[in-house]
Amino acid sequence: MGKKILVIGQGGREHALIWKLAQSSEVERIYAAPGNPGIAELAYCVDISVNDTDKLLEFALDTGIDLTVVGPEAPLMQGIVDRFRSQGLLIFGPTVRAARLEGSKVFSKRLFEQYRIPTASYEVFDDMYSARVYVRQFTDAGKKVVIKADGLAAGKGVIIADDFIAADRAIEQMMKELAFGKAGERIIIEEYLEGEELSFFAISDGERYVSLMSAQDHKRVYDGDQGPNTGGMGAYTNPPIYNEKLRQQIEKEVIEPTIAAMKNEGCPYTGVLYAGLMLTDEGLKVLEFNARFGDPETQVLMPMIKGDLLPVLEASARGDLDGLELGVETGSCVGVVLASAGYPGSYQKGQYISGLDELDPDTLIFHAGTAYQDGCLVTNGGRVLSVVCRGKDIDDALERVYSQVEKIHFEGMHYRKDIAHRARWSRSY
Ligand code: AMP
Ligand code: GLY
Repeated sequence: MGKKILVIGQGGREHALIWKLAQSSEVERIYAAPGNPGIAELAYCVDISVNDTDKLLEFALDTGIDLTVVGPEAPLMQGIVDRFRSQGLLIFGPTVRAARLEGSKVFSKRLFEQYRIPTASYEVFDDMYSARVYVRQFTDAGKKVVIKADGLAAGKGVIIADDFIAADRAIEQMMKELAFGKAGERIIIEEYLEGEELSFFAISDGERYVSLMSAQDHKRVYDGDQGPNTGGMGAYTNPPIYNEKLRQQIEKEVIEPTIAAMKNEGCPYTGVLYAGLMLTDEGLKVLEFNARFGDPETQVLMPMIKGDLLPVLEASARGDLDGLELGVETGSCVGVVLASAGYPGSYQKGQYISGLDELDPDTLIFHAGTAYQDGCLVTNGGRVLSVVCRGKDIDDALERVYSQVEKIHFEGMHYRKDIAHRARWSRSY
């Protein structure tokens, strides 16, 4: 008998995870809660919200699910892993205490400090007056300063202030106006780091880990990193600054001490360690950790993983990763997000999507905000689709992906035309 897998989520990230898991010879059936039209081609979609832990648990028990994989952070912060484990179910992801690595910046910064994991220098504040005094030491020296809400703020709780006026405004917005809700009652102020930013993904079982690879996201909505932040407009694997030596450095200086620290704190970390890093002149520094796969990074990571992902996710959940490895394909993978007009602000839904049947066969399409309306595929969210291509190198992957993007159309569709631009610039120097 093959295995039954439940994947929680409804975005491009979960579509990519399901696409990869569906290739496992051990899988009999995949369920997605709630899934989306793209996912429905590979899995049975069940209409349960990602936040309805009771119903998800009931479904997993009734259906005899062998492994549950959690996509987004919200269910992790609500303790879905703890609930499933208490019922004897195998689930991939961190417990609620371990998920504090993403859920509380104060927790993670204190952990980095205590265990000498390199990070930007910082202070924690819960009153505006002291916060204002502290930022002066940066702004009076003409330095930028970074203001962060402690809790989860949908990726928006970080403000980089160029001067005192901007810093003061950010503090007021977070602490007085509660622009990010309770997440901003406590803030962190930290030094601004200059350098090359990259993300690194590893899977841990609480003690050991399997490294995946590095990827770079593009957060701003417009070309040249202009405009407001989004959930991510595209990604590519293994930026040029990343190499074998840097991988070993990241493992030794960041991944291994973090896993050891979490274990020592009594909350061993199981699941994905998604490290946001800055390579500065003074060395590697951690910006933050996320407790889950990235979106849209997963859409480019999954096609680059060689072999079966399922045994690694199961072993992480069980705590026995010993001896397991994941190979990585050669070349590069690039993903471009197609977004609705107006995104990341308000946008229209229900635009007819055309061109998907004209794509080259090796193009991957991962759905995020799509729906069926009268039998036609239409837009149903801000980020609509990820178009993903592998190539023998970044240029090849880029050429392929943009030649496919041009074939797709919906009213108001917009996308970044400069995904992986940092990789191209750094190569042409
Ligand atoms: P975070 O959510 O902490 O990763 O911050 C979001 C983004 O803000 C990061 O991806 C960086 O681009 C930027 N950022 C955060 N902290 C710093 C810092 N100390 N110096 C420079 N940029 C930062
Ligand atoms: N791509 C950014 C994130 O998943 O948080």
